[in-house]
Amino acid sequence: MLAGRSILLIIGGGIAAYKALDLIRRIGERGARVTPVLTRAGAEFVTPLSVSALAGRKAYQDLFDLTDEAEMGHIELSRSADLIVVAPATADLMAKMANGIANDLASTLLLATDTPVLIAPAMNVRMWTHAATQRNIATLKGDGIGFVGPNEGDMACGEFGPGRMAEPLEIVAAMEAALAGGPLAGRHVIVTSGPTHEPIDPVRYLANRSSGAQGSAIAAALVALGAEVTFVTGPASAPEPAGARIVRVETARQMLAAVEAALPADAAVFAAAVADWRVKSRSDQKIKKDGATLPRLEFTENPDILATIAARKAGRPALVIGFAAETENVLANATAKRARKGCDWIVANDVSPATGIMGGAENAVTLITAEGAEDWPRMRKSEVAAKLADRIAAALGQEI
Ligand code: C5P
Repeated sequence: MLAGRSILLIIGGGIAAYKALDLIRRIGERGARVTPVLTRAGAEFVTPLSVSALAGRKAYQDLFDLTDEAEMGHIELSRSADLIVVAPATADLMAKMANGIANDLASTLLLATDTPVLIAPAMNVRMWTHAATQRNIATLKGDGIGFVGPNEGDMACGEFGPGRMAEPLEIVAAMEAALAGGPLAGRHVIVTSGPTHEPIDPVRYLANRSSGAQGSAIAAALVALGAEVTFVTGPASAPEPAGARIVRVETARQMLAAVEAALPADAAVFAAAVADWRVKSRSDQKIKKDGATLPRLEFTENPDILATIAARKAGRPALVIGFAAETENVLANATAKRARKGCDWIVANDVSPATGIMGGAENAVTLITAEGAEDWPRMRKSEVAAKLADRIAAALGQEI
């Protein structure tokens, strides 16, 4: 999808700029041309020499470089690309973009362009969560700027949280989706996936056998159709989907908070195997064997994330999809579940051990909607995901 395309890559000034070097290689491997632009701060983190050597062309830096104007003016530079990628997009660059400030080559190109723009933000977690940056994010999204990341994790500054730049391959996947301009372009979809871990004490927890494979496949299929996907995952073993914004959580309550924080969304797919109960009062210390009495665990109910989001008055996604893993009376139980949870669709499957579905590569599902039940033939989980993503695109397409 990237082959033969022309990419203008703006490298902002942040420690994540080192990943931009790898990004240039990954884009080049896929047969696209990269024209690099370095901001002044960007050039403090990676040298113009390494950038131009990897890109195989000049790294542009200065708005007033007359040679550049003679070769290619800044207006032409900003419009000759198929896609502009900003990686890393610093808080400062995003603030300039949101306010139409054009005081250097990068910001001028971004203001002068009529080409789609994809940004990969990278900054300290406090800068990301700051009200000013959050305002700028909302403005940029409203202006149709595409986002990939940031991811959550350890940061170079020693803090933890959202702010890490997306990995080069995630950016490549988002670029492919942006260039594909699929039917879900401009749509935000939340996907929950994996099991949850509910702590008993600092070293023990309750869990289940969900691998997260179906959830990862659904997120990847939605990214492929151009959606912006927030993937809220418990501790799963399946690989995370490239191109999605990944939010890692452990418990059901954290998962609900992460989903609520990710709203608004056009659709939400609740594929996670959320623990129904948690231990009522988890111990702060490791529970000791005292040789006489056995520990007793008292349980309390977890929030039902699907039902909570489906019941929202304000900010309910237009399409709320739940899963029903059943071992008997699949149709009747799943149909009742659709009504009980207040969701629009239920993807029901039979997870009796004999089916080999739980933990396997295939799935046989029944899609239950207001119109009735539809049996899908047994197919690979990736095919179920692609078919479901197509149906989501069709339903959201009708809604506008
Ligand atoms: O009630 P049951 O667990 O069978 O419902 C399954 C559906 O509800 C799945 O879509 C699952 O992700 C969702 N769920 C949830 N929060 C819970 C329990 C289930 O979102 N606490």
